[in-house]
Amino acid sequence: MNKFKMAVSALAIVAVTGTANAAEILIKFSHVVAENTPKGIMANKFAELIEQRLAGKVKVQVFPNGQLFSDQKVLEAMLLGDVQLAAPSLSKFGKYTSVLQVYDLPFLFKDIDAVGRFQAGPEGQAMLKSLESKGLLGLGYMHNGLKQLSANNALLKPSDAKGNKFRIMSSNVLVAQFESVGAVPLKKPYAEVFTLLQTRAIDGQENTWSNIYSKKFFEVQDHITNSNHGLLDYMVVTSSEFWESLPDDIRPVVKTALDEAILIGNDVARDKAQSDMQKIIDSGRTTVHTLTDEQRAMWVEAMKPVWAEFADEIGQDIIDAAVASNIE
Ligand code: SIN
Repeated sequence: MNKFKMAVSALAIVAVTGTANAAEILIKFSHVVAENTPKGIMANKFAELIEQRLAGKVKVQVFPNGQLFSDQKVLEAMLLGDVQLAAPSLSKFGKYTSVLQVYDLPFLFKDIDAVGRFQAGPEGQAMLKSLESKGLLGLGYMHNGLKQLSANNALLKPSDAKGNKFRIMSSNVLVAQFESVGAVPLKKPYAEVFTLLQTRAIDGQENTWSNIYSKKFFEVQDHITNSNHGLLDYMVVTSSEFWESLPDDIRPVVKTALDEAILIGNDVARDKAQSDMQKIIDSGRTTVHTLTDEQRAMWVEAMKPVWAEFADEIGQDIIDAAVASNIE
């Protein structure tokens, strides 16, 4: 190869991989949310820590906003080696395992601390390995927060949702949850939600305050109910093959950096659950409703039968452990 061709091919490596050093291990981290969200901040922090600790050996490239893969495609791409890290919502693993459906059961966790206790316990930890037979490995959980309901009409009692079309993540539990109140659930990619709401192709959606704020859903929904009816958390996942291919002196450094980034992301999640809600209220673009105790009890009563519907698939012991985590 002459000098010119060598220079051109070196530039091509830089362009394709973002690194000039062919010996560097490249970790592509794909996610679908904005950078100013708990997960976006966690991913960027992880890249920064790796740069500090493993410069020249490992490089992390973060692709936010579904730029590289949607959550529908990312796990397949991971198994093909096209991406090394992702953190899909726990609702998006249904094709790979049924136990994670526990996290979608409506009104299961009273708050994020209860979720944290369950995830740290034996059942939660075992679930990180529930994808192993499919070639995937959970490296840790990360919080986003509890979900809220939004629509163009006020949702104060379950009958207010009747006949409404709601976008949901790809989870059969979420299908059952919305069907339990007579609504029409539609599984759609996150990237499509704003346009579906804006064009009124759908009537509503459920999401966390940080997602509703960062993707501007509140600008195209007249009402949001502070329902805290469900959970949106993540599993940071990699392919077992990639993880095992990492040199023994590199793998623990990567894991420690990820654990540290997750802790920071969790703090951000906690803050944003309050601050993004407040920003939405202050914007005046939508009306935020708080349920009375009686109204909330009606939603619980309508949606709770979903638990029994999925008890066999999930395992009653797992549901019981999740319920027990509500007690400090
Ligand atoms: C995410 O937080 O990663 C996206 C959640 C969604 O699809 O609604």
